[in-house]
Amino acid sequence: MQHDQFPADFAWGAATAAYQIEGAATQAGRKPSVWDSFSATPGRVLNGDTGAVACDHYHRYKEDVKLMAALGIKHYRFSISWPRILPDGRGAVNQAGIDFYQQLVDCLLAHDITPHATLFHWDSPQALEDRYGSWRSREIANDFAEYASVVASRLGDRIQHWMTINEIFCFTHIGYGVEQVPPHAPGTVVDSLKEVWQTSHHALLAHGMACQAIRTASPVPCSIALVDNFVPTLPIAETPEHIAAAQQAFHVNGTNGGIVEPALTGAYSPALLEQLGPNAPDIAEGDLAIIHQPLDAFGFNNYSGVYVRAIDQAPGYEFIDFPTSYPKLHMPWLFFTPDSTYWGIRHVSETLQRPDLPIYITENGCAVEDKINANGEVLDIDRILFLRHYLRSAQRAIQEGYPLKGYFVWSLMDNFEWAWGYDRRFGITYVDYATQQRIPKASAHWYATCIRENAIV
Ligand code: FCB
Repeated sequence: MQHDQFPADFAWGAATAAYQIEGAATQAGRKPSVWDSFSATPGRVLNGDTGAVACDHYHRYKEDVKLMAALGIKHYRFSISWPRILPDGRGAVNQAGIDFYQQLVDCLLAHDITPHATLFHWDSPQALEDRYGSWRSREIANDFAEYASVVASRLGDRIQHWMTINEIFCFTHIGYGVEQVPPHAPGTVVDSLKEVWQTSHHALLAHGMACQAIRTASPVPCSIALVDNFVPTLPIAETPEHIAAAQQAFHVNGTNGGIVEPALTGAYSPALLEQLGPNAPDIAEGDLAIIHQPLDAFGFNNYSGVYVRAIDQAPGYEFIDFPTSYPKLHMPWLFFTPDSTYWGIRHVSETLQRPDLPIYITENGCAVEDKINANGEVLDIDRILFLRHYLRSAQRAIQEGYPLKGYFVWSLMDNFEWAWGYDRRFGITYVDYATQQRIPKASAHWYATCIRENAIV
């Protein structure tokens, strides 16, 4: 491998999610998800935007797949909408929903693009919210496993790469947060931090039971991954003492020790449990074994990390606040931390001691203030700067022998950015929402060249 080259089998991809792009929210038998209800509630989403139409991908998927093929994208990560397949969350299967994803996947395969399907990217059926409060109930794990089985048995002949759940932290800890008005559906403010942790514990159980269900239902052997956005801790300097501090701090940073750690190691971090005290979730006998399923890959959604340094006093490390002038992209949380790619990968392999586990960057990208110029182009050099530096960090991880196998840019196109509606653009393709025209940005052409050269250009 030459210095600037990726391995010959490196998987270059792009990612999206159902609610963010599909639209057709009330068509062909689909019933509402919690995001339909949430976004229809005044004050929840910026400018009152909803995913009712989004990028109209449901009707335009052929054009979108063609666009991907033209850019040379070889792998596509999309999500399947639970309420399109099981409109009531459980029970009767909506054949029109199955048909849509079969057609989408057939179109991808015809263009030589490998499908990677996420089973849950936040759009849980409203029916289950009404029935038992979604993730507040342990029952959801059974329903999710049933859904996984329905999908794997009907689509497993053409999809061999499965991702169970996207970013447990976001739809549990931000969806049920106790201190702020939650910016994520369903937006329920529960009574205690313990109840919040119980929702993420239920999501971990759902992940574990879905892994088992997929293995049983898939007609052929397949690859199963969990996708998580744990926050990497970054040493302020790469010296042994600061690296050790970053590794120690990893377990108690945000929800790392209570989501990615039990999923990949079979145990919640003892340091985190001690910090949580009475707010730790109830863990029933056998739960950890269900949660700790064998995985074929791990998906790391990589945006920002946090810097850490070693200190003399207990606990031996300290988190460093971002100074007000620290470079940031067009989201309040999107600090420019390209080191987070390398360290995220290394933490999975080393800190969580899973060097055996192949890793994919399943999302990486940024929102910037895109403008169309007089020639009808979007020259997003800020996005190119961001992607180039994160990819260099990915390349460093590969060169040091860490098992990074592929990379999916977030996102193929601008889309419904949750509580920010259409105000924030993460795409390498510009979407004109009035006409649904797609305009590949400069970053899309740049990315296409990287794929062609199998290198950072
Ligand atoms: C991630 C989500 C994805 C998108 C990006 C910007 O947290 O998985 O849907 O919103 O952030």
